[in-house]
Amino acid sequence: MDRKEDYIAVFDSGVGGISVLRQLRRELPGERFFYFGDSTNAPYGSRPTQEVRALTMAAVAHIFAARPCKALVIGCNTVTAAAISLLREVYPDKIIIGIEPALKVAADHFPGGTVGVMATEVTLREEKFDTLLHRFDGGCRVVKLPAPGAVELVESGRADSPEALALVQQLLGPWAGKLDALVLGCTHYPFLSGTIRRVLGPEVPLLDGGAGTARETRRRLAAAGLLENGPGELVLTNSREEPAIFDLSQMLLNLPL
Ligand code: DGL
Repeated sequence: MDRKEDYIAVFDSGVGGISVLRQLRRELPGERFFYFGDSTNAPYGSRPTQEVRALTMAAVAHIFAARPCKALVIGCNTVTAAAISLLREVYPDKIIIGIEPALKVAADHFPGGTVGVMATEVTLREEKFDTLLHRFDGGCRVVKLPAPGAVELVESGRADSPEALALVQQLLGPWAGKLDALVLGCTHYPFLSGTIRRVLGPEVPLLDGGAGTARETRRRLAAAGLLENGPGELVLTNSREEPAIFDLSQMLLNLPL
């Protein structure tokens, strides 16, 4: 039986899910969070789907063995696309919340506009994305923008480096002045926002699903009578048990929201 004081687990292939964790802590300050990033195996987004599923199942089994958890938030678009149905089959009694590229927000706000979706190869090729596209793209033109190499830059603490600027310039430079909005369809990318704004300009809205996922988590916990209003707690863990990854995680966590 799940209890209010149990943890909300947050999982990502690496440090990207910290962008979702930040929104969760803002929305639900009285909750206890257990974060696990699988940086040893990141990036997931260029792997075959079966590999993403196997890594996810191993990571989630580890999380549930480590702490009593009343909910699991998948702070990773790639894992949501490839493995959330499987997770819900294997853990039918657990509250499991995923994250999807914020296409609905884009379609609602920019009807008739051109919207870029920057995401991993897995997210853009999985059936879930096509379903999402057909549901919301009626009103706007959607440009798929896979970004190989971007996750690695965030994982190595180089989100604001000359290499990041070069990569983003190559990917988004040709779209400068042509996009009404850019959907950040990978939870690592909000940490590249500064670099992306340098290329696209400060006025282009960058949309990510973190805040929506946090609101959905609150809604699901409230519906189950499992909202906690305690002092709050955060346990930050990673499969790469090195001081450098811990320091990077803390730095990303403490960036101004
Ligand atoms: N952070 C993950 C996402 O939201 C992907 C990172 C990866 O490729 O491992 O898609």
